[in-house]
Amino acid sequence: MPLDSLGMDVGEALELLRAEQERGLALVGGAGSAEELEHAEVAVLGRRAPISEVQRSLRTLPDEDRPRVGKAVNEVFSTIRAALADRRAVIAAEADRAIAESDRIDVTLPGRRPPLGALHVLTQTEREIVDVFVSLGYRVSEGPELETDWYNFEALNIPPDHPARTMQDTLYVDVPDRPDLVLRTHTSPVQIRTMQAQEPPIYVTIPGRCYRRDVPDPTHSPIFHQVEILAVDEGLSMAHMKGTLEAFARAMFGPDQRVRLRPSYFPFVEPGAEVDVSCFVCGGSGCRVCGNGWIEIMGAGMVHPHLFEATGIDPERYTGFAAGMGIERVAMLRHGVPDIRLFYEGDVRFLSQFVRGTA
Ligand code: FA5
Repeated sequence: MPLDSLGMDVGEALELLRAEQERGLALVGGAGSAEELEHAEVAVLGRRAPISEVQRSLRTLPDEDRPRVGKAVNEVFSTIRAALADRRAVIAAEADRAIAESDRIDVTLPGRRPPLGALHVLTQTEREIVDVFVSLGYRVSEGPELETDWYNFEALNIPPDHPARTMQDTLYVDVPDRPDLVLRTHTSPVQIRTMQAQEPPIYVTIPGRCYRRDVPDPTHSPIFHQVEILAVDEGLSMAHMKGTLEAFARAMFGPDQRVRLRPSYFPFVEPGAEVDVSCFVCGGSGCRVCGNGWIEIMGAGMVHPHLFEATGIDPERYTGFAAGMGIERVAMLRHGVPDIRLFYEGDVRFLSQFVRGTA
């Protein structure tokens, strides 16, 4: 009996369905990706696929043939759909496996170490200096870099017309209604702040950044760093000061260090001194670094009674000493650095010479 619209009889139609099933299973089985599987589905089960055409022409069949052919059509459809579902699951699992494979982490491989940063040589030096004083019982005290004229100069016995202002000419900042603000020229204003805030006995070490209107040259920078100490107690004398500075010099530069005081002038101390240490390159016999065996490293002296009066400390009962040094100068001497500007240029070839351990 011919299937009218297709021009074939039932036997041929059943044969076509069998062949289509075979073709479909082959296409589905050979699909290697979700996309290929989709093409296979359209080719075998799509509206224009031979099976669909057989399905459409079922209604033209005589009643006695329709169930047989209809059943065969349904079987082919469900066989191929089942194969499609199986293949889809396999392809999805393969894709998952490929992702897992490409993302695989081998925890046994050695890690890639990012290069570690390190502390800048000036920070290292500052910490070493501060640590020496902390080990002698001093506490760290800090103050603002933007100071008032009073703390930076006047309370330190440096009135507006004092010539010492010229030596420490500073950078004034442009803050409306605050003509009294300056960038501090030394860490000494923190002496005043500490004496205002604490009762004696006071033993503090004061690290910090300072600013001066100095033209950059091998030994000067407009921004530099100091560490200062202040001790205020009953009965403190210059002997205590010298002993303290000697202990510092030995801890910092070596156990055979000697310290020499030369008279000098700072308005906030009386008497005042320049402090020299014996040259740690030649041991004091005289060399290219020191010239005469001594290296000047700080200013020092006994706290001027005016500072006690300005901060409410009884000058009849208490005495004190103070000393201050430039961190750059200490670092230059220790490491033989010829030019202060090297510290600020940020050239890693220079800076990496001072990497010690981790930051
Ligand atoms: C003072 O600043 C005093 N306040 C130190 C002091 C404290 C004396 C306590 C007595 C008692 P002087 O101006 O000398 O002193 O500066 C101290 C050190 O700071 C210098 O020896 C130098 O090492 C460093 N220094 C000063 N100006 C600069 C600069 N422009 N660049 C780099 N370092 C500087």
